[in-house]
Amino acid sequence: MLTISEKYSYDDVLLEPAYSDVLPGNADIRTRLAGDIYLNIPIISAAMDTVTEEQMAVALALQGGAGVIHRNLSPAEQAKQVGFVKRYLNWIIESPVTVNKGQTVHDVRKIMKQYNISGLPVVDNGLLCGIITGRDLRFCSDMSLKVDQLMTKDPIVEKGSTNTTSARKKFNAHRIEKLPVVDEAGHLTGLITVKDIEKHENYPLAALDKAGSLIVGAAVSPMDFEKRLPLLIDNKCDFVVLDTAHGLSRSVLKAVESIKTKYGMTVIGGNVVNASGTKALIEAGSDAVKIGVGPGSICTTRIVAGIGVPQFSAVYESAEEAEKHNIPVIADGGIKFSGDITKAIGAGASTVMIGNLLAGLKESPGKEVLYEGRIFKQYRGMGSVGAIKDGSGDRYQMKQNDKPVPEGVEGRVPYKGELGPYLQQLTTGLKKGMGYCGCKDINELRNYKKFVKISNAGLRESHAHDVTIVQDAPNYSV
Ligand code: XMP
Repeated sequence: MLTISEKYSYDDVLLEPAYSDVLPGNADIRTRLAGDIYLNIPIISAAMDTVTEEQMAVALALQGGAGVIHRNLSPAEQAKQVGFVKRYLNWIIESPVTVNKGQTVHDVRKIMKQYNISGLPVVDNGLLCGIITGRDLRFCSDMSLKVDQLMTKDPIVEKGSTNTTSARKKFNAHRIEKLPVVDEAGHLTGLITVKDIEKHENYPLAALDKAGSLIVGAAVSPMDFEKRLPLLIDNKCDFVVLDTAHGLSRSVLKAVESIKTKYGMTVIGGNVVNASGTKALIEAGSDAVKIGVGPGSICTTRIVAGIGVPQFSAVYESAEEAEKHNIPVIADGGIKFSGDITKAIGAGASTVMIGNLLAGLKESPGKEVLYEGRIFKQYRGMGSVGAIKDGSGDRYQMKQNDKPVPEGVEGRVPYKGELGPYLQQLTTGLKKGMGYCGCKDINELRNYKKFVKISNAGLRESHAHDVTIVQDAPNYSV
């Protein structure tokens, strides 16, 4: 017997408002991404070559989310970018770059330039003996001078286990910018910088690991994870995402299992669209499950292959299964407005993954293009001809030399400026939705479950209508 079940997209439904004593500004949108990784906003950026490289990953993590560095990069380049994000912010730099007192000014300048840093602790057999900074070198023209002729001897230090209050006091009292940390015997154990303390103060919502570094993820595939994982682990990557279009397949389930058992890494499996796919990925060891086949703005999978499930129902049914195992789900693709984030979380997701809405930001790696006097940024599917040529074909089960049969398109999106203010529009939209429903935090919204199905007339009524928009809004365009 033919069974056709009815499934819904975000546009088919609305959350029904209810009595509320929650002010949007007080809504708590912290969430659990996967395993013991928590974010301060429920947004991660898509593992796409026009969305997430190191700049986007840094900017998003500073605001409380996380980026997933795409895999159209060589394993070495991807790991390098992860390392850049992890080193961007610290409480204590655990392995600071150092010099020996016998090295020359030429060496020091070269090292400072290479690592883009302005001060280096000087060590002798592991013992701290000085510090040399850009200030010491400012008027030095003799490149052959030795470090110990210019360094500040007996620098101010922190001893043993330290904290930011004590470090801040020393920065203040001595007007210095770098504070080496030493053990009782005087061995260098770390470095605290004013810059890091300032960054922590400027970004109070930053998504941080236990050491105070930004959280970042990387995409891998069943074909390449053995090459990528050791390098990603060396660079302290927090989690990997099995970036595939069909997560309910033998190779993906096996890869999830290996990543868990062999590398012990936090792994997000995907993509699937229903309870059975979710259960299989969880049983294989996924710490979170990513949902979505074909909802993405650049996706043509549903049209090319004739498969897929409308995203609202896919998230709802997958999240119901995942809840039984206490595993979070991530709604990936199809977010067009901030209200879709509220709907995705209302359907049970803990986090959303976004491509399109972030691709137009300054921090995305897509090229800027000028078209009819306005600035756009390039945005393309990882299954588009261009992206496949750059390496992503295996996401769609294609072999390296196959002629591309794309499942995505290449396009452009309007340039939107910097991430910070735009993200604020998205998160405030979500908080407004929580206020209307009386949900004080993400878990309350996940369990709210009061939706109404709307007709095409209802959708038309929901959008701005019967008016010519004369002023662009920062959070709405048609
Ligand atoms: P949005 O709607 O945010 O979706 O642009 C981003 C998500 O779309 C997926 N993706 C693709 N899906 N063909 C597809 O069928 C593609 O070429 C493609 N590229 C990306 C991916 O899950 C991403 O996070």
